[in-house]
Amino acid sequence: MNNFAILPVRRFAGSSAAIRRPKEVAYFSYDDNHQFHLDERSMCYYYPPKLGADLSKGFDTFQQLDDTADDHLDSLLKTIIDLERRTSTKCTADIVTWRGMMTKAIPKQLQLEFDIMADFMAWRRTACKLPKVDLPIIKDANFLSFIEENHEHRLESKKAQHNQPSRPGAPSQDLMAYWGYKFETLSLITDQWDPTSREFIEGREDVVVNNYAQYCSVVKTGIGKAKMVLGGEVDALWDSKPDNKDDSINWVELKTSAEIENDKDMLKFERKLLKFWIQSFLLGVPKIIVGFRNKNGILQRLEELETKNIPTMVKKQGRGTWDGNLCINFTASFLDWLKQTITGEGVWRIRRRERSPVIEIFKNEESGHGDILSREFIQWRTQG
Ligand code: A3P
Ligand code: MG
Ligand code: MG
Repeated sequence: MNNFAILPVRRFAGSSAAIRRPKEVAYFSYDDNHQFHLDERSMCYYYPPKLGADLSKGFDTFQQLDDTADDHLDSLLKTIIDLERRTSTKCTADIVTWRGMMTKAIPKQLQLEFDIMADFMAWRRTACKLPKVDLPIIKDANFLSFIEENHEHRLESKKAQHNQPSRPGAPSQDLMAYWGYKFETLSLITDQWDPTSREFIEGREDVVVNNYAQYCSVVKTGIGKAKMVLGGEVDALWDSKPDNKDDSINWVELKTSAEIENDKDMLKFERKLLKFWIQSFLLGVPKIIVGFRNKNGILQRLEELETKNIPTMVKKQGRGTWDGNLCINFTASFLDWLKQTITGEGVWRIRRRERSPVIEIFKNEESGHGDILSREFIQWRTQG
């Protein structure tokens, strides 16, 4: 057993550890039936939506993906196999995982300024739970560790979120989740839709919302000493991919948020910005478009945010809800500790118990890969 102390958080303050600019090395798509393809068929372009749109429209016909199955890292590993085959080079990294894993698990620990500290305070008052992370890890010759979320834990937190009581008269969690997908549908152009056609904008309003299709970018990046290969969905392109593969790509992340009416709303929004920022910078998404909606889900206005400016913006507003450098340094230290601690083969588990100020790591299985790796990937690796 080995522990990583979260407190005192102030030791992570100061100028930020180095971040490697994320570079897309491969990609894949899920089509409208959620079938996997090693191509860009589900890549979309951003075209501003019409304001005043009702984000609830079409909720009854929403085609929603059942994501309760455990897909492990399969699609990401398929893409890495293809990359290695095409380039005849073995991809190397310290950590291979979904971007969502990093956005969900590690930020939960590093939402220090408000989450952990505020939660500690809240805990004293209301006994509210601290976030828990529980993930297995495996060691491989080229990749130090593959990280995935503990499936049972994922289902548990999904259920808890779903069962969260809405205030009387407030929209359901399901409807609010639909608003996010509807906003995407209203803001995207696919190859089949022509923005020069008169029916284009109204046409988008009538499209049946379906969250089966995704374009996923696979990037090489790094924080501090840890090199990572991350895969994650990107919502849209601002213009087109650059001809030079070394140039960064003008991705756009689409987000909806409640209109800010008072100080309390502003505070809530600032906290949300931490999640937006982490999610976007990990894949190198430079721009976030926020669609502000009112309580009834009517789209009121759009705001374009530059991802790199978000930490300064939050700092300048003076509420001190979070500190970008502190988050990066925390992650750099945490990942470095992970690198040094995982010294042997097997399945390891990282866990933070409720209310605990330490993250624990221990070996869960002496050997094997705990189903984290696909048969296809193991075969590819053993071949050569
Ligand atoms: P919003 O973020 O606008 O609410 P993403 O923003 O990551 O591209 O995800 C698109 C939408 O999927 C979200 O839009 C939200 O509606 C839904 N979504 C994503 N993660 C979710 C979660 N953990 N719980 C509920 N809905 C989620
Ligand atoms: Mg998305
Ligand atoms: Mg989005």
